[in-house]
Amino acid sequence: MTSDFSYARIIGTGSYLPERRVSNQALAEQLAARGIDTSDEWIVERTGIHYRHFVDEGTSSSDLALQASRRAIEAAGLSPQDIDLIIVATSTPDMVFPSTACILQHKLGITNGCPAFDVQAVCSGFVYALTMANAMIGTGTAKRALVVGAEVFSHLLNFDDRTTCVLFGDGAGAVVLEASEEPGILASALHADGSHVGILCVPGNISGGQVQGLPLLTMDGQAVFKLAVGVLEKAARAVLDKAGLKDSDIDWLVPHQANIRIMQSTARKLKLPMEKVIVTVQDHGNTSAASIPLALDHGVRSGQIQTGQTVLLEGVGGGFTWGAVLLRM
Ligand code: ACO
Repeated sequence: MTSDFSYARIIGTGSYLPERRVSNQALAEQLAARGIDTSDEWIVERTGIHYRHFVDEGTSSSDLALQASRRAIEAAGLSPQDIDLIIVATSTPDMVFPSTACILQHKLGITNGCPAFDVQAVCSGFVYALTMANAMIGTGTAKRALVVGAEVFSHLLNFDDRTTCVLFGDGAGAVVLEASEEPGILASALHADGSHVGILCVPGNISGGQVQGLPLLTMDGQAVFKLAVGVLEKAARAVLDKAGLKDSDIDWLVPHQANIRIMQSTARKLKLPMEKVIVTVQDHGNTSAASIPLALDHGVRSGQIQTGQTVLLEGVGGGFTWGAVLLRM
């Protein structure tokens, strides 16, 4: 397949949060029953999080991805059969294999045989996936890509560890990226440093029908925080340089929604007022690969992000991985 257009543009966004919304207070009460002490005040002050959404038993990443994808495809004015590439960023796949993207393809009823695969870059997964979809459209491999971030991080949480279990939630976000004469995606920068595997990981794996090692999230929060604020600024500067733009050209920053303090720090370094930052962390906590497309969809549907504006997406997460995508809506 070849394409007449070498650029790619977002033509639809969608997102989905599971119905069960858990406040800090409700979570603190559940944890108190286990002898774990936390409070609404601590969580709000250190993270900005007020609520997270958790799936009910039996709901998987592909179920959340399905809802977000339907909304993005509808917003794009397309039907599922128009999609010719599916990339799902997730660290909580439905199965070891096949990919969540293949499961999503089937749930969407797509029978055109389009390629479908997952990307694993934890909270940077969406910027990785978007960059790959952009490259595949640029080489003519696809014309209309569905790019999804979907997570059920509640499955990985250790509810005996107050330093991590209050931070994360479940959700999904999606975009449809279409081949275009004009650049939508202006520049991207992706990075990884595997020497930091241990500061944020789920060390368990499956072998011989048994789970080997701890299949729960562990994190050195302060180490992650310090690394995150440094690399996010560098990634932002890299994409601005590549696109020949400056800080003041950014209309909206849509950062990974992990912690309000990391977002404030990045905005400060880029000399952006917080009014130009899409912040949704208060409503859903850290949803890993889902958080950027969730926030982007919120910005679009609330009427804040307008066609033609310049938007900087950036993510950071386990690996250690980080990256940024600069785009024109
Ligand atoms: N409730 C109450 N007290 C708590 C809690 C809690 N839930 N968690 C920790 N504390 C206590 C600690 O035990 C410590 O007590 P002490 O002083 O008596 O020892 C105190 O609070 C301060 O702990 P710190 O770890 O210093 O708190 P900090 O201000 O660094 O905030 C946090 C912790 C929120 C985790 C912060 O470090 C952070 O946001 N880090 C980045 C995390 C992140 O972004 N991760 C996602 C990356 S994306 C991905 O790939 C999944």
